[in-house]
Amino acid sequence: MNLIAAADENWAIGKDGGLLAHLPGDMKFFRETTKEKVVVMGRKTLESFPGKKPLKNRVNIVLTRNTDYAPEGVTLCGSVEEALELLKQYDSEDVFIIGGGTVYRAFLPYCKKAYITHIFHTFPADTVFPDLDREPRWKQTKVLGTGEDNGIRYEFRLYEQQPVSDGKGGI
Ligand SMILES: NC(=O)c1ccc[n+]([C@@H]2O[C@H](COP(=O)([O-])OP(=O)(O)OC[C@H]3O[C@@H](n4cnc5c(N)ncnc54)[C@H](OP(=O)(O)O)[C@@H]3O)[C@@H](O)[C@H]2O)c1
Repeated sequence: MNLIAAADENWAIGKDGGLLAHLPGDMKFFRETTKEKVVVMGRKTLESFPGKKPLKNRVNIVLTRNTDYAPEGVTLCGSVEEALELLKQYDSEDVFIIGGGTVYRAFLPYCKKAYITHIFHTFPADTVFPDLDREPRWKQTKVLGTGEDNGIRYEFRLYEQQPVSDGKGGI
């Protein structure tokens, strides 16, 4: 399972229900990386999309505890466990956790790769992502590219969760 997020220098990801900045190059990277894949999100992230509509050309899975919620074009899950069960039918490499803060946190332990757009800027924010540079299990392994929009620079970083050691030098 993978995760994809755009975070600033403080690992901030959102404010007032929206993104921190309009970065068309990052949107393109997101679109290309998740195209034809399975995207998993929280109800608030779905509602942050234009028209509160699901993303085209992707299977959209949305977490909510509200049993009366019935948006079109998405599969609903009432818990992380229910989502994990549902996701078993897909190749885990095709699954992308796309936010927001609560859903990233809940699924982080199940993810092998995190595609983080690191934005070289700090923004006022109310939603943050766990600082992967301080998580011993996570290591940045690659820079996949760089970009700049409206004078804001960013780079696409790949983080990978490291296998647990058995304490004997093996894995
Ligand atoms: N920078 C990025 O890459 C990025 C990506 C995505 C989102 N964002 C930003 O993040 C912010 C939204 O994040 P958020 O943390 O406030 O909200 P969120 O994670 O998008 O959605 C939270 C909602 O999801 C449901 N939910 C969460 N965990 C659940 C669980 N274990 N079981 C069942 N339902 C669960 C609940 O819905 P109900 O209340 O309906 O029960 C909860 O209120 C926005 O500002 C958005 O723009 C940023």
